[in-house]
Amino acid sequence: MRVDVVSIFPEYLAPLELSLVGKARAAGLLDLRVHDLRAWTDDRHRTVDDTPFGGGAGMVMRPDVWGRALDDVLTPEAHLLVPSPAGAPFTQRTAEALALEEHLVVACGRYEGIDARVAEHYASRGRVTEVSLGDYVLNGGEVAALVVVEAVARLLPGVVGNPASLVEESHGAAGLLEYPVYTKPASWQGHDVPDVLLSGHHARIERWRRDEALRRTADRRPDLLADLDVAQLDRHDRQV
Ligand code: ADE
Repeated sequence: MRVDVVSIFPEYLAPLELSLVGKARAAGLLDLRVHDLRAWTDDRHRTVDDTPFGGGAGMVMRPDVWGRALDDVLTPEAHLLVPSPAGAPFTQRTAEALALEEHLVVACGRYEGIDARVAEHYASRGRVTEVSLGDYVLNGGEVAALVVVEAVARLLPGVVGNPASLVEESHGAAGLLEYPVYTKPASWQGHDVPDVLLSGHHARIERWRRDEALRRTADRRPDLLADLDVAQLDRHDRQV
């Protein structure tokens, strides 16, 4: 997969050289390119923003600069992502859909955002999705780009060593939060690992994990439980 990220702070994307994403790049599974938006400015001050039409606080990013950048970076098959608190929620389902794409371009806005004509223009020529990480305001799209690239890259074949770990995790196939996990020592600071996990009884362990996942989800994210397909619940699930 190819991913291009355009930002006025390309250094912000440096963590994408580390860990799993860094390894995916080194292994040739992810072709990630980070660009400085100011490379497409044409004035001495390398201006990327201006005051908003209609007045108001803050600055807006200029469509002409973004247009030159995106004309250079977009390919016919690219899906353009524009992080914004006004976007559609970015979820595990979004990450799964994006992991099937050939080419993603992430346009990181700053200040009050990017002139609205940019998304409109490119939506008439290809796919554009404004995505939000959640209901809070960040200083720009760079952190969202880090999140999107990490969430998508780990779903690419060969990036996560044991693909089974993608199935059981929170927001995985079951639609539940993940059960709690424990390792050695079995007793720590007076807190003991639940006995069932030391029992070696696989069926009981599976049942306990599912119960805990259901309980946690009901407690912390009742909205996820409400979305569950009732047909997927067995009788024991309903009693939890
Ligand atoms: N830019 C600023 N706030 C954001 C958010 N919540 N999600 C995505 N991009 C953003």
